[in-house]
Amino acid sequence: MPLHNAKFSAFGSHAPAKIVNNYDLEKIVETSDEWIRTRTGMFERHYCTPEEAASDIATIAATNAIEASRVKYKDIDLIITGTVTGDHPFPSTACIIQKKLGLKSIPAFDISAGCTGFVYALDMAKNYVENGTAQNVLVVGVDILTKITNWTDRNTCVLFGDGAGATVVSRAKRSDVSRIIDSLIYADGSQSELLFQAAGGSRMPASHETVDQNLHTVYMEGNRIFKNAIRSMFASTDELLKRNKLEAADVDWVIPHQANLRIIEGLADKLRVPMSKVIVNIEKFGNTSSATIPLALDEAIRSKKVRRGDIILLTSFGAGLTWGSILARY
Ligand code: ACO
Repeated sequence: MPLHNAKFSAFGSHAPAKIVNNYDLEKIVETSDEWIRTRTGMFERHYCTPEEAASDIATIAATNAIEASRVKYKDIDLIITGTVTGDHPFPSTACIIQKKLGLKSIPAFDISAGCTGFVYALDMAKNYVENGTAQNVLVVGVDILTKITNWTDRNTCVLFGDGAGATVVSRAKRSDVSRIIDSLIYADGSQSELLFQAAGGSRMPASHETVDQNLHTVYMEGNRIFKNAIRSMFASTDELLKRNKLEAADVDWVIPHQANLRIIEGLADKLRVPMSKVIVNIEKFGNTSSATIPLALDEAIRSKKVRRGDIILLTSFGAGLTWGSILARY
């Protein structure tokens, strides 16, 4: 039994100002609005400027989340950031966010779990709060995939956008309805080469050759990931519901990773949840990796779709391969 319950205090998000739509992409690679819409459900995405880095948009999202909560800046005692496109290979982007927010000395670290980064970070935050180590954890999901995009590869370059989302996971009072009920995370490293960035690490340090060969960009076998995505998100949500003696019908909102509308529809179908209960904003943001879930959830909360007391089910999958789900009463 945990010592405490953890809850979501509030959410915040931020997407950069520049918007690029499918017609703009038609000018870069051989593609069409029709292909992108029908194969992915995407129309627009937000792109950072060359000057903007992950901590810049993450700090805005974090500030929005903290301001929306009743938590004081000085009471935040841990920062966890899910990202694969941090400002630098090191130090962690969480440390830079800490500096920008003026939160001295509190621990801060990043988690690398691809698009599952936010769900992994939430799982950790929940554990820190439940075991009493932390009272208010700032959890951020941020990615700027456009900085590691191969603009000659039409299989991937049309999919990605930039964005950041954040939440404060806090210790719940006994009287609180809100609670993170349960969470599950998984990984299968045997499939790590389906989705990865080949160069820039110790396996293949940066060189003129790696840059010339575009090896600092996303390599993805989309087709093989597609099937995995539906299977793994269904498996982890199903397991989470079953072990909490809930049916999918008990869930008010499913907030899945926004990688492809067909993946989302496939998941809803397997879960037997109508699409009217699934939060989808992929047409406006594309795949923002670890930011998709907090971006979608923040938007749904601000538009009063998702309300306090609703049962929400978050689920994601990504590079690693990694996947996981969070069940909560918001
Ligand atoms: N425009 C036009 N045609 C295209 C484009 C494009 N942008 N991209 C691919 N095609 C073509 C292909 O070349 C292929 O043509 P061919 O039959 O002549 O060879 C055809 O379309 C079909 O290609 P598929 O790869 O089979 O297309 P699919 O229906 O699988 O859609 C997609 C591709 C959108 C990538 C899909 O597989 C997908 O969404 N996969 C999952 C991606 C994902 O979720 N990744 C994990 C998260 S990302 C992260 O962690 C960073």
